Amino acid sequence: MKAIPYGRQNITDEDIQAVVETLRSDFLTQGPKIDEFEHKFADYVGAPYAVAVNNATSGLHLAAKALGVAPGQRVLVTPMTFAASANCIRYCGGDVDFVDIDPDTYLMDERKLVAKLEAAPTGTYAGMVIVDFAGYPHNLERFREIADRFGLWIIEDACHAPGAWWTDSAGQRQLTGNCRFADCTVFSFHPVKHIATGEGGMVTTRCPKLMERLRLYRTHGITRDPALLTHNDGGWYYEMQELGFNYRLTDIQAALGISQLSRAEAGLARRQEIARRYDEAFRNVEWIRTPFRADDIYHAFHLYVIQVPDRKGLYVHLRANGVMAQVHYAPLHLMPYYRRDGWTEGSLPVVEDYYAHCLSLPMYPTLTDAEQDYVISCVKNAREFRI
Ligand SMILES: Cc1ncc(COP(=O)(O)O)c(C=O)c1O
Repeated sequence: MKAIPYGRQNITDEDIQAVVETLRSDFLTQGPKIDEFEHKFADYVGAPYAVAVNNATSGLHLAAKALGVAPGQRVLVTPMTFAASANCIRYCGGDVDFVDIDPDTYLMDERKLVAKLEAAPTGTYAGMVIVDFAGYPHNLERFREIADRFGLWIIEDACHAPGAWWTDSAGQRQLTGNCRFADCTVFSFHPVKHIATGEGGMVTTRCPKLMERLRLYRTHGITRDPALLTHNDGGWYYEMQELGFNYRLTDIQAALGISQLSRAEAGLARRQEIARRYDEAFRNVEWIRTPFRADDIYHAFHLYVIQVPDRKGLYVHLRANGVMAQVHYAPLHLMPYYRRDGWTEGSLPVVEDYYAHCLSLPMYPTLTDAEQDYVISCVKNAREFRI
């Protein structure tokens, strides 16, 4: 059997056709596909505005910059995430402070967040970056209450969670990225994610001012909008009003994204099915801890993470058998770069304990039942071999 990766894109003939059509069109970039992708994605997550970018790292940077992160500001970040969730703050010169995770959901621990905020002088923190880790969506109503109490903004990194929802206190379903509670939400279209464009990302928001700033910073800080120009030399004239970047997505990628988006729901449904099969297979295996489940959320299952006593042993055993399990993630506060701020082993015990035991099993829509059964039997065998 071919090696089974932990995640994989699904490219169909329709996707290829969409890309080819764009390659034959007048615009490879800055054309109509961007606008179409932004509108369709905004509709999908229920947000008024979506801004397409060349990857989620750029999207996080734009969000942090648009929210005014500057040297001297401190921002609270979960340590259970990819480096980009915290680095966006550093790009703007801000400082990162980590809050430990909840032992069930692996999201930022609300009680620890509040305790940290209460212990600090008013105004210590400017905002927070929270991450819907593995696809488990935050109850953003509760995080918004905390944010409002302490005057913070919220960037939600939903790179793992397009299509997820949670339930608010009125019993209403809230789609991840609709920005009713977060200021900005950021998505990734890296190939292992739900929607693949090679590289790519999207930032959603409900705030017109933020949307304008995101667009401005995405293209060098340049505007052509006559209403915003300081003066107007003629039809060709534009102004660079801020120091921005080139963080644009191409139309080629947007065409692929639009085609992928049309299958997003089907992909999510298949991920649910795979998760249910894993849950079922490991239900009575006392040494495997499966992901936390709740009825009032819809988990996007970017990752299916188990916890086991001997993670390294299981990792080696699975790899030797062609199952490319992965570890998500080594905690961010223990990366050499962030250790320079004084973080060490023991600083955040819950996330460190999680890291010692976690392993992500293959999870992607085209994983077949036969492949999954093979993965399951390899995992279960590992114990017999006393790994
Ligand atoms: C949680 C999270 N945030 C941000 C990123 C960065 O995404 P991108 O590769 O699109 O820049 C990733 C990608 O792995 C991620 O998993």
